[in-house]
Amino acid sequence: MRFEPCGPLRGELRPPPDKSVSHRAALLGAMAEGPTRITGYLDSADTRATLRAVAGVGAEVREGEADDRGGVFVEIEGVGLRGARPAEIDVGNAGTLLRIMPGWLAGQAGGEWVLDGDESIRRRPVDRIAEPLLRMGADVECRDGRLPPLRIRGSSLRGIDYEMPVASAQVKSCLLLAGLLAEGETAIIEPLSSRDHTERMLAAMGASLRREGQLLVIAPAERLEAGDVPVPGDFSSAAFFVAAALLVPGSEVDLREVGINRNRIGLLSILSRMGVEMGGAHERGRAMTVHEIREPGPEPIAAVNVRHAEMRGATVGAEDVPAAIDELPLVALLGCFAEGETIVEGAAELRAKESDRIAGVVDGLAALGADIEARPDGFAVRGTAGLRGGRIDARGDHRLAMAGAIAGLASRDGVEVDGFDAVEVSYPTFERDLRALLG
Ligand code: S3P
Repeated sequence: MRFEPCGPLRGELRPPPDKSVSHRAALLGAMAEGPTRITGYLDSADTRATLRAVAGVGAEVREGEADDRGGVFVEIEGVGLRGARPAEIDVGNAGTLLRIMPGWLAGQAGGEWVLDGDESIRRRPVDRIAEPLLRMGADVECRDGRLPPLRIRGSSLRGIDYEMPVASAQVKSCLLLAGLLAEGETAIIEPLSSRDHTERMLAAMGASLRREGQLLVIAPAERLEAGDVPVPGDFSSAAFFVAAALLVPGSEVDLREVGINRNRIGLLSILSRMGVEMGGAHERGRAMTVHEIREPGPEPIAAVNVRHAEMRGATVGAEDVPAAIDELPLVALLGCFAEGETIVEGAAELRAKESDRIAGVVDGLAALGADIEARPDGFAVRGTAGLRGGRIDARGDHRLAMAGAIAGLASRDGVEVDGFDAVEVSYPTFERDLRALLG
């Protein structure tokens, strides 16, 4: 797919429903008793895998009407905390499903499950969940002690105190679900705060959780109460248009109903250090404003208005990484256009994503003419006020495919994205939405 240099992006857009929240809504809905009604479940390859997975273990999944932002109404009749049926589960490319669901399955009274997926998923480490689950008394096995397929046999679990070596919302969520089924409390310490969608949803479903600083404690539960889950727009999907509007002169885009959970919007503080002026509702002269903040459910949403702006380089450190993890490829792209150097450090986790995102971003942008170099835990980009263009390989990674597309719009000669169809994973309607903003 080719993306040519373009004129300004203008107009309003409701980005697609949040992928992280959709996965969790389906999983927790399956664990609950009674019907969970999900408004705006993301219709994408990853989140479809989760619907199949919960149906596979016995939950009833009823689909309603599609909306205009790439979501669909879904009602799930759960099997209850202890009612999962044995199954073989194909997670496809969905790392979140692969790493969260085992926490629930490991605590079942009996039964066996095997989780496996595509070629990329088979390279993604699961020892990060297997290790703490084993300490809880779980019966789990993985290939070479580290990789999928993951085999789980239900067993009785006990609560543990666990200090997570890396900040990972997937690992944290897995242990929270296991904690619901364990004997005694489970205490988790996160080195840095990661997205807390699971905690918010569990609290709304009646689970007993408390947080003290970086410590999170969950008590065992008899049941989860089903309810209504509105899914916010995905900030990580909206971020591609934030980047596009910042880069293409004359642009102004209003992104509506975007989730602004503070553990997701680290990109905003990075941008502010890159010189993008931020403001609230009454400061519409700024390059970016966040307005119409509301909380229609457990997650806050807002409208994000963004215009073209000049940027300067900035340094992104380990403390910035969890809240901006999926947006770091875009920071690299923005860095190509900024004045001075942009450095990302403490982000070795990028190597364990859908692809090695440090290698993918650095090789990809270098092929388009960027002055960028890889580091073991990040990258350094020297801004050259633009990008020549050329060809970029998405490496089967949805976020690299979309970053390549945005690079094309802002480049001199255009960009050909190999493997653009990877966008199906999180944002099947990306091209339609992009065209709408380009008029
Ligand atoms: C996710 C957590 C993050 C993120 C991923 C989605 C989630 O991964 O990169 O895209 O939904 O919990 P880690 O938990 O590995 O940091």
